[in-house]
Amino acid sequence: MKIRFLPAWFFGFLLFLPSCHHEKLVKKYRIGFSQCTGGDAWRQMMQKEMFRELSFHPELELVIKDARDDSQKQIEQIEELLDMGMDLLIVSPNEAEPVTPIVEQVFYSGIPVILVDRKTNSDLYTAYVGADNYEIGKTAGSCIANLLEGKGKIIEVWGLPGSSPASNRHQGFVDAIQDFTEIEVVGEVNGQWEKEYVLKELPAVLKKFPDVDLVYSHNDRMAVGAYQIAQHLGLEHQIHFIGVDGLPGPNGGIQLVESGILDATLLYPTGGEKAIRLASDILNHRPFDKENTLQTTVIDSRNVQIMKLQSDKILKGQKSIERLQEMIDQLRRVFHNQKVALYIFVITLVITILLGAWLYKSLCDRREAYKKLEMQNKEIRIQRNQIMEISEKVKAATKAKFRFFTNISHEFRTPLTLILGTVESILTSGRVQKKANKEDLSLMRQNALRLLRLVNQLMDFRKIENNKMKIRASENDLIAFVWNIMKSYRNVAEKRKIDFRLFAKEEKIPLWFDVNMLDKVLFNLLSNAFKFTKDGGKIHLSLTRNVFENQVIIAVEDNGRGMSKEHVQHAFDRFYQGEKYFAQGTGLGLCLSKELIELQGGNINLSSKKKKGTRFDIRLPLGHCHLKTDQLAQVPVAPTSYDEASTYVEKLSFSTSSEPFPTLETGQVGGEHSHSNAKEYKLLLIEDHDDLRLFLKNKLGSTYEFHEAADGNSGLEKALKMVPDLIICDLTLPGIDGLELTKILKSDLRTSHIPIILLTARSSMEQKIEGIQTGADAFITKPFNLHFLQESIKGLLLNRALLKQHFKTGGQLPEKLIAGISKLDSQFIQQFVSFVDQNYTRQNFGMPDLMKEFGLSRTQLYRKVKVLFGQSVADYIQGMRLSKATKLLEKGELTISEIAYKVGYTSPGYFSTVFKSHFHCTPSEFKNLS
Ligand code: FRU
Repeated sequence: MKIRFLPAWFFGFLLFLPSCHHEKLVKKYRIGFSQCTGGDAWRQMMQKEMFRELSFHPELELVIKDARDDSQKQIEQIEELLDMGMDLLIVSPNEAEPVTPIVEQVFYSGIPVILVDRKTNSDLYTAYVGADNYEIGKTAGSCIANLLEGKGKIIEVWGLPGSSPASNRHQGFVDAIQDFTEIEVVGEVNGQWEKEYVLKELPAVLKKFPDVDLVYSHNDRMAVGAYQIAQHLGLEHQIHFIGVDGLPGPNGGIQLVESGILDATLLYPTGGEKAIRLASDILNHRPFDKENTLQTTVIDSRNVQIMKLQSDKILKGQKSIERLQEMIDQLRRVFHNQKVALYIFVITLVITILLGAWLYKSLCDRREAYKKLEMQNKEIRIQRNQIMEISEKVKAATKAKFRFFTNISHEFRTPLTLILGTVESILTSGRVQKKANKEDLSLMRQNALRLLRLVNQLMDFRKIENNKMKIRASENDLIAFVWNIMKSYRNVAEKRKIDFRLFAKEEKIPLWFDVNMLDKVLFNLLSNAFKFTKDGGKIHLSLTRNVFENQVIIAVEDNGRGMSKEHVQHAFDRFYQGEKYFAQGTGLGLCLSKELIELQGGNINLSSKKKKGTRFDIRLPLGHCHLKTDQLAQVPVAPTSYDEASTYVEKLSFSTSSEPFPTLETGQVGGEHSHSNAKEYKLLLIEDHDDLRLFLKNKLGSTYEFHEAADGNSGLEKALKMVPDLIICDLTLPGIDGLELTKILKSDLRTSHIPIILLTARSSMEQKIEGIQTGADAFITKPFNLHFLQESIKGLLLNRALLKQHFKTGGQLPEKLIAGISKLDSQFIQQFVSFVDQNYTRQNFGMPDLMKEFGLSRTQLYRKVKVLFGQSVADYIQGMRLSKATKLLEKGELTISEIAYKVGYTSPGYFSTVFKSHFHCTPSEFKNLS
């Protein structure tokens, strides 16, 4: 049996158990008993006996029907019993004649029928149980003849005349007394077996024969009735009373004889016990006798005591049997209950065992399933790890690719800058006169710009991808903004006779947007529109504010060549390459535009038809609720002066200024020296790009003493050796990179004072901050504006000049300058001043002491002090000594020669010479003046 079928099997078992039990309880045979009457003590005793006997035959069931002395009723009840399907019938016929046919019918039908006590008029019955009533009548007659000593008058009280015992008892009696001629039956009363009839009928008869000697009743009950009548008539002592039945117990025949009411009674056994035994034999097919005659005897004053004792004993015995019976019943009930309990226990046990087995099985199954799952899990884990590993590798590879890609893009910008710078420079220098050459150069410029634009777009994509593209939205008038961009195309439109117009119903449309982003988008769309619209075509822009939908729609529409359906679908895909339109266009422009618009919470749509034209609709939300606080610029943002967007119109604002270096207002830097041969400032350019180095050398070499290094290491070496006035350094360098180099130089006392400008192709804020944190003084993004670079160099040198000025003239150091000095340098200044202050009195104090103190070479110390203090070390010490000397001279406490030695001069004469050359008076003159 499979465990999974347990429920069905189990319920079958449950159903089976009670059914087994039930079958055992069901009686095997049913016996119907048609009783002529059940109302008297004799009959009740008969039934009691039957039931007592039945307890020994658990297979038998007894159904009793009481006809109440009614023969017709008895017939009906026998039929009922037949209908009920009885296996055997016991009949005690009320009257012989009417009941005979139905008994014969039962007999014929094959159902065994036992007659008890009374008989039918037929022999067609299975068996009979009862005493011989004729014999009883005869014994009664003999007994009466004895009692009356052969002479006397008798009244006979009949039972039901139609019943066999009555007729038989009469016949036996008559036969017994027929020989006694002096015994005479004077009267007869039909008592119908019951006392009431006797009480009714007997008085008349007794009154008629008051000298009667004996009343013979067919049963004891009627005999008692006769006695009572006689008593009533005062005749009870002269009359003898004889009855039949001889029942034990109170008011039974035996007691009536004992108490002297009856002279004698004839024992008439009920046969109840025997009838059941007989039925059992018949039903169980055991041999049996057809006629079962029960013994009878006379009970009179001679044997009544013994009979009573015996009957009492029997009664007692019967009672204990009954008690035992009850106990057996009780035990049977207990047994039954225990059996039920046992069943329940067995069922529970079976259930428990089965459940246990089932649980064990399912546990095993589960363990197996778990093992399987574990295995699968393990496999999945391994696969997942492999996938993760692969994905990590892919990620790393992609990252590396993108990094490479970005770096390459960065790398493109420098050569592009150079190309553009050089081309612009040649174009604006006036050196090229020939038209064809000019056109070639323009073409070069155009293509360089296109390349630069692509690089810019790629870098923008990287920013968007890395979430580094930050929105800086400000509120601007959209109409003015768009109009301004359109200006860049006005010349082209005029030249190509393109109907280039802006439509707007309103005068102003205030809108929050990132000017640099929208700028790029519009330049891109316009650039495309111009590219694909024929001369004489139209390009219309319209600006519509839709207050209901809370948005602004910027439409750019042309009647150019248009696109196919498929191409429209992929227009915003970054890597879509199947379209000439894009191949010729910016390639990335539309996709970037989409990203930039979506970043600002808007969307861009395209509708186009081949040969009809194209229309772009940009929708941007009104207000600034869609923007985060950090996306809102505090101050209005203007498009960056040097911006990628301008590359769309291929007119780069790359400065190729050849103007002379502007003179500083202070007149301390550049200016007068800028064109002189003796260049005051030394510039060190550390840049790995040869062309850029050359370009900058050409542009800056005329103004500054130009030095260069092609990598970080040699740059550092040169910086330490020559201690330049300013360093321009590229961020990405072979060897030590720009940031690292700046860090080293700024934390080295020998070079910490040198202003450093970092050049980079990367423009992210983070790198700028990093650059500044390492101490870089300026940060310029490639492609840079040369003019901006020149201005930055000039500004930084000016600060140093001001610093020097300060040290020369003394006084409070301006805040602007303090901010320009590094921590290391301000520390150096303090330490230098105090070291000189402590040592100037020593006559041999000088450069070697300071070189030792600060760990710097002669040149390094000289240049550092020169930059920071604007004078040489010797001049500074001299200045200190002279300043101290003036103070001592003013005090007037010491002689001039004492003062000379005190402030560190080797002789008073040398002190006087130096003092005079500095203050244009001798120390003594100064003393006299003060
Ligand atoms: C009981 C009884 C007995 C009598 C017998 C005859 O009903 O009247 O007293 O002996 O029936 O059938």
